[in-house]
Amino acid sequence: MRVTRAVVVMLIAIIVAIGDAHAAASGQSIHFDQANKVFRLDAAKVTYAFGVDDKGRLQSLYWGPRLDASDRLPPAVTPPKADGIDGDINRVRQEYSGWGGGLYYEPGVKITFPDGNRDLELHYQSYSIKGDTLYVTLKDIERAIVVTLEYEMDAGTGIVRRSATISNQTATPVVIEQANAATWFLPRSRDYTLRFLSGRWAGENDINERLVQPGKTVLESRRGTTGMQNEPWFAVRRNDADETHGQVWFGALAWSGSWQIAIEQDQVEQVRISGGFNPFDFGYKLAPGASLSTPSFYAGVTTDGLGEASRLMHRLELTKILPQAPAPRVRPVLYNSWEATGFKVDEPGQIALAEKAASIGVERFVMDDGWFGARNSDKGGLGDWVVNQQKFPHGLKPLIDRVHALGMDFGLWVEPEMVNPDSDLYRAHPDWVLYMNGRPRTEGRNQLVLNLARADVRAYVYNALDKLLSENDIAFLKWDYNRSWSEPGWPAVAPDEQKNVYVDFIRNYYGILQELRKKHPKVEIESCSSGGGRIDLGVMHLTDEVWTSDNTDAFDRLRIQDGFTQAWTPAVMMAWVTDSPTWVNSRTLSLEYRFLSSMQGSLGIGADLNKWQPQDFATARRLVAEYKAIRKTVQQGSLYRLVSPQNGSEQSATESISPDRAHAVLFAFLHSSTENYPYPTVHLQGLDANAKYRIHAIAGTFDPRTPLVASGAYWMHAGIDLLMRGDFQAAAVVFDKE
Ligand code: GLA
Repeated sequence: MRVTRAVVVMLIAIIVAIGDAHAAASGQSIHFDQANKVFRLDAAKVTYAFGVDDKGRLQSLYWGPRLDASDRLPPAVTPPKADGIDGDINRVRQEYSGWGGGLYYEPGVKITFPDGNRDLELHYQSYSIKGDTLYVTLKDIERAIVVTLEYEMDAGTGIVRRSATISNQTATPVVIEQANAATWFLPRSRDYTLRFLSGRWAGENDINERLVQPGKTVLESRRGTTGMQNEPWFAVRRNDADETHGQVWFGALAWSGSWQIAIEQDQVEQVRISGGFNPFDFGYKLAPGASLSTPSFYAGVTTDGLGEASRLMHRLELTKILPQAPAPRVRPVLYNSWEATGFKVDEPGQIALAEKAASIGVERFVMDDGWFGARNSDKGGLGDWVVNQQKFPHGLKPLIDRVHALGMDFGLWVEPEMVNPDSDLYRAHPDWVLYMNGRPRTEGRNQLVLNLARADVRAYVYNALDKLLSENDIAFLKWDYNRSWSEPGWPAVAPDEQKNVYVDFIRNYYGILQELRKKHPKVEIESCSSGGGRIDLGVMHLTDEVWTSDNTDAFDRLRIQDGFTQAWTPAVMMAWVTDSPTWVNSRTLSLEYRFLSSMQGSLGIGADLNKWQPQDFATARRLVAEYKAIRKTVQQGSLYRLVSPQNGSEQSATESISPDRAHAVLFAFLHSSTENYPYPTVHLQGLDANAKYRIHAIAGTFDPRTPLVASGAYWMHAGIDLLMRGDFQAAAVVFDKE
């Protein structure tokens, strides 16, 4: 075909009309409609759009199910005046705002300048697209404060990652008092319910719901760490949406320090969700020429209910967030010594446990607290990362060699950011902790927090761990963190720089993890914090799994795990089988029940194997082998929460399906029988309706009249009847495509 001049002119005209269009091979696209000044991101089932309004402000335009490629969003405009009292700035759906110009809502960023000025109004400057990321630059109307927003949409899930970088291009330092990663707007409506997670030690992941009404709900941690009091995750659903149906917006922050997510409904019924650094006690001094990047805030939307919202989060974590993404290796079955031996670890005792663990199919043996320094209780030793000579006279090598000879790899517990006052480290460096001059140093679990923001402390922690990993053949670290901050002072730096600790500490923590992973690429790491106190997308980017809860009671765990999977993938959810009756609530449960509860996540064993009888070993051996056959599906498949264990439910059930829908596994629990009621028929979800699946029970029994082979449609619509009576019963059934 001859390309005529007219065709070329026409093509140029089209390109100018639609602006810079970027369609990446990765399945997501970024378009800028030059005429309407509208940015549009599309991927999976989602469209996200915002535009530059007539005054140069960035306005949110659309975030919801994917629009047709031909749809053009109208330009953003200043909304009509509502009253003479508030400036229009409060009705503009600003993607990212400076605090100034009479703004009353959560701003993106708030700054104090050295001359006392605290007014900031950000207007659009320019944009660029690099790879799959859109960068949009804003600048204050007068001063050289430049904010660069990042937008990246995940091709697989349509989840958007947003963050902001604030650059001080003025000639003087400024103090940033608030910095959010993003503000997300929902369609204007009164029809919303917020879901969020709260908890406490040994009681993580309670699911809470409340109507979104005028005012603000703040989810946060002021503890210097992620915390378990709220998880940095939210979901807002339409009031009629539920687990399987309806529209849900959801998101999570990637930050392991003090954080905040605020869900706000204002006087004109705008609903906005903003999140980033916690503004409480925040004051980041930014030198001329320096910049501060916020954490990333990931958020998505679905029309298929809360279950699908969780599955999208899980998929994002598996394919984008985890260090081994997009194809993390399955978690090995591990044994951990903590509940068996406490601080009383020594070479013969650990070897005896290792031998028993290996006999049931354990793949990783982990020695917990007590192996170092003068660590005989939680009162001393933390900070002294040298092997305790009384307990291990020949170092760790004989134990590690024995563990290897038994066919397992070896893992070790550490708590690198902490120090007991009763330690050689603290005696040598009492100024290495967070403290405020002349004030008491509040202890938590008899320990203080090392100030990781200090270069010397960072170097000490890195070197101690690097030495440990270089001198010993260690495959895994359980990295613990057993208290929150108090008196977060940093007296070694100028008073107006001390609050930088909220950011610099966490950046150094991430830096150490990054460097260790680089130097010791085979080492895997678990994030633990007195249970689930440090779980967020930031730490998940640098660690391979997380400790769910110190509460290892298998029944309590059903509720805790159900809350966990709202936000986090079962792939990283460590779940141990421990002794019965359990220390936490004296409940007695069968070994099979305890196994089935833990097999819904990443299986570990934490029981005192010295107390086990031969039949316990036989049960464990059988169930560990069964678990290995289903674990890829459980850990990396799609999770369907069929029956919720919440609100005192008598039953609960989960189902996991492999990505190709060839395998599924059903776990069902009966908490207590009442009267003469049979266990309700369980209807599976997400199977291939036309495929045939053969079933077999791992544990428990089903009605003998049940067909052993039936279609996906049958299992989803006719369902399966499990025979469970009594209290604390459990069953697991596998579905394999024929
Ligand atoms: C924390 C962890 C436990 C255990 C102890 C050791 O409580 O959550 O699993 O490692 O520390 O002191």
